[in-house]
Amino acid sequence: MKVEALPIVPGNYQLPSYEEARESFSWSDVESVFSWSMTGKMNAAYEAIDRHALSFRKNKVALYYRDENRSESYTFFDMMKNSNKAANVLTQYGNVEKGDRVFVFMPRTPELYFTILGAVKSGAIVGPLFEAFMEGAVKDRLEDSDAKVLVTTPELMERVPYDQLPALEHIFLVGDGIEEEGKFLDLNKRMNEASTSFEPVWMEKTDGLLLHYTSGSTGKPKGVLHVHQAMVQHYQTAKWVLDLQEEDIYWCTADPGWVTGTVYGIFGPWLNGVTNVIVGGRFKPENWYKVIASLGVTVWYSAPTAFRMLMGAGDALVKEHDLSSLRHVLSVGEPLNPEVVRWGMKVFNKRIHDTWWMTETGSQLICNYPSMPIKPGSMGKPIPGVEAAIVDDQGNVLPPNRMGNLAIKRGWPSMMHTIWNNEAKYESYFMPGDWYVSGDSAYMDEEGYFWFQGRIDDVIMTSGERVGPFEVESKLVEHPAVAEAGVIGKPDPVRGEIIKAFIALREGYEVTDELSEEIRQFVKKGLAAHAAPREIEFKDKLPKTRSGKIMRRVLKAWELDLPTGDLSTMED
Ligand code: WT7
Repeated sequence: MKVEALPIVPGNYQLPSYEEARESFSWSDVESVFSWSMTGKMNAAYEAIDRHALSFRKNKVALYYRDENRSESYTFFDMMKNSNKAANVLTQYGNVEKGDRVFVFMPRTPELYFTILGAVKSGAIVGPLFEAFMEGAVKDRLEDSDAKVLVTTPELMERVPYDQLPALEHIFLVGDGIEEEGKFLDLNKRMNEASTSFEPVWMEKTDGLLLHYTSGSTGKPKGVLHVHQAMVQHYQTAKWVLDLQEEDIYWCTADPGWVTGTVYGIFGPWLNGVTNVIVGGRFKPENWYKVIASLGVTVWYSAPTAFRMLMGAGDALVKEHDLSSLRHVLSVGEPLNPEVVRWGMKVFNKRIHDTWWMTETGSQLICNYPSMPIKPGSMGKPIPGVEAAIVDDQGNVLPPNRMGNLAIKRGWPSMMHTIWNNEAKYESYFMPGDWYVSGDSAYMDEEGYFWFQGRIDDVIMTSGERVGPFEVESKLVEHPAVAEAGVIGKPDPVRGEIIKAFIALREGYEVTDELSEEIRQFVKKGLAAHAAPREIEFKDKLPKTRSGKIMRRVLKAWELDLPTGDLSTMED
C-alpha cells in the first residue's frame, strides 16, 4: 500500500535519532536515573514521587486535578505527604503487608492517586477497578486475586458483595461515608489524622506492583501481574514516545482502571518529574478543549474513539478554543484511522502519533516517534531495545508484507510477570524462538513500519475497551429467558466495534423489544455498561461445534456477509 508519509516536524526531541538509539541502547543504561541504583532500595512510588519531592522539583506542580466541582493542584512535595498518609492508613488500619492485594474502585479524584501511590509504598500490589464495573465484574476480580483491602466510595459500595468475599478484610470509604466499627473506615478522616512521613517498603525487581484484569476470548478475565522493574520502561517510553520534557503539561485521558491510566497516567509522567493533568467526570468535547486551553496542555495522550467523538463534535468547536499549547499528540488502544490522522493535521495542525501495546506488555512497544515520518494507518516501529516481528504459527519469522502473528522477542523490562493464579495461561503466550505472541495480526512493510490487521482471537475492542465475548455470553445465559448466546464485535465507525449478541431463547419466551431491552439492561447492571450488547438478534439455534462451543466466527460471517469457511466441526 502506498501512503503519503507525514514528514518529521523539526524539534528538540528526547529521541533525536531512532536509528542511532536502536544501535546503541541497552535497558541497563536506564537504571542509573533511579535512586535505587545508588541505594539499592527500590519502590516505584518512591521513584515517581519522593525522588522529585526531595529534589529541585519539590515545589513543582505534580498534579492538576479538574472536574465539575474541584479544581486543585498538588506539588511533588504535597503528593509525597498525601501518599505517605495513605500508606500509613493502609498499613495501620488495613494491616497491609508486602504482596497483599489492595484494590481501588472509585472515580478519578486526587484521593484515588494518593491511594494508589500509598498502597505501592506500603508494598501492596494494586488492583485498579474501572468505576463502571457492576457487581459481577467486581466480585470476579476481588475473588480471583484474594484482595485483602478495598478502597471505594459509599455509592460504589452497593456493587461490592463483601459478604461473599472472605479474603476481603478491610474496606475504606472515600466520601461522606458512615464509619462502621470494624468493617468500613473513612479514608479521608483517617488520612487527616495520619503522619506525613512513611518509610516505603523496599521491593525486589520482580515484586508485584499492579494487577490489571483483562479479557481474553475464553474464560473469566485474567489478572496480569506487573512488577516494580517495569518502571524502567515506563520511564524510558514516556521520555522517547511521549517525549516528556521538564516544562511539559501532560494529559493522559485514560482511567487507571485500564493499564494506560496507570502506566501513562501515573508512572510514565511522574517518573520523569513532569506535571500531570487528571480530569474527572464524563467525556464532553467542550470540556476537553477547555482543559487543554486553560492548563496549556502540551502533550496529550488519548484514544481513537475519543478522537472520533471529537471529530463528530465538529471543527467549529475546535476553533472556539486556543489549543496552540499542544506540541505532541498520541493515541492508543485501537486502530487509528488515517482519516483521524488527517483530521488532526487539519484542526490541530499536529500529527497524531499512534502507539501499540497491550495490558500484558506493560508499556508501549511499537510506536510513532516525533523524530520519524508517520505513515497514517501504521502503528510505527518497535522502540529501541525491543525486537518485533511477524511470525507464522510455528514461530518462523515472515518476510515484509506478509500477514501473520505480531510477536515480540521475550525480555523487555515491563513484560507481565505472570497471570495471577494461572501460570499455564502465562506460558501459552509464548512460541518457539522466545516469541511473545500478541493475538494481533499485522504485517511489516519494507521500511519496518508495522500495520495492524485485526485480532486473531474473538476479543472485542469497543470504544477502546477490551471485552471478552465469553464474559458477556456467561452473563447473558444467566438471564432466565436466554438458552444460548454468542457474542461478536461488529465494526462501527465511531466505536471501532460494538457488541452484538445472538441469542436463542428458552421454551416459552417470545421475541419482543421489551425482552431485548431487558436482556441488555441485565448485562449492563450485572457486568458493566460498556459490556452490554448494543445489538441483539434472536435466532432459533446458534451455530455450534460438535463439542458444543458456539462458533463465533460463523456468527461474524453471517453478520458481515462473508464466507463462513470450514464448517466441518459444526454440529448437524
Ligand atoms: C489490544 C490490547 C495498552 C493499550 C490499551 C489497550 C489493540 C492497542 C493499538 C493500536 C491497533 C491496538 C490490539 C491489542 N490495540 N493499541 N495502536 N492499533 N490496535 O490495551 O486492553 O490490553 O488491548 O488493543 O488489539 O492487542 P488492551
